Amino acid sequence: MTPPSPAPAPGLHIRSATPADLDPILAIERGSYAMPWSAETFQSLFGREGVSFLIAEDPREVVGYAISWEVAHDAELGNLAVSPHYRRRGVGAALLDRMIDDLARGGVRSLFLEVRWSNEAAHRLYASRGFQQIAVRKRYYERPPEHARVLRLGLLSSQVQGEGAV
Ligand SMILES: CC(C)(COP(=O)(O)OP(=O)(O)OC[C@H]1O[C@@H](n2cnc3c(N)ncnc32)[C@H](O)[C@@H]1OP(=O)(O)O)[C@@H](O)C(=O)NCCC(=O)NCCS
Repeated sequence: MTPPSPAPAPGLHIRSATPADLDPILAIERGSYAMPWSAETFQSLFGREGVSFLIAEDPREVVGYAISWEVAHDAELGNLAVSPHYRRRGVGAALLDRMIDDLARGGVRSLFLEVRWSNEAAHRLYASRGFQQIAVRKRYYERPPEHARVLRLGLLSSQVQGEGAV
């Protein structure tokens, strides 16, 4: 029997994003990154084949989102952001756990991502889910220039290392 999905943080609902969610997504994006993605970039991802675009909402508003896309048997986590007002309440972890669970159920083998060298919050979150650093991309980011850590999480049951990845 298939085990249940991980429970999100209390009061939090996670669902697929729709174009109607664009405005709050853009507000979170602009409050989270020095080089935010454009509205056009998000619009190109809604409902696209192989893309998982999740949002987290509390009863009143959208509080975060996560986006991945599949490439062959693997996937790339392209974006994960939480409203600055809702951070450190388990929203990012709930989105990541749901993404990992969905991808694992879909037979994806590995989830990859890049993260800024100095992004301690994100790095700790990924480490807590069992991601491991597999490479460094020098000066991958701009504004400010910075190296990226390339992280990987194995999703096949024989590779899973963290509680959040089952
Ligand atoms: C990274 C980010 C998504 C985390 O979201 P969040 O909802 O605040 O994270 P959570 O509350 O789920 O935290 C889960 C775990 O991550 C780690 N963590 C999260 N924020 C942290 C911080 N500021 N400092 C240290 N560890 C942190 C902790 O291990 C935490 O567990 P704990 O609270 O039990 O100690 C959020 O800080 C964010 O949106 N940052 C800007 C965008 C970004 O950098 N995205 C990642 C791009 S790769």
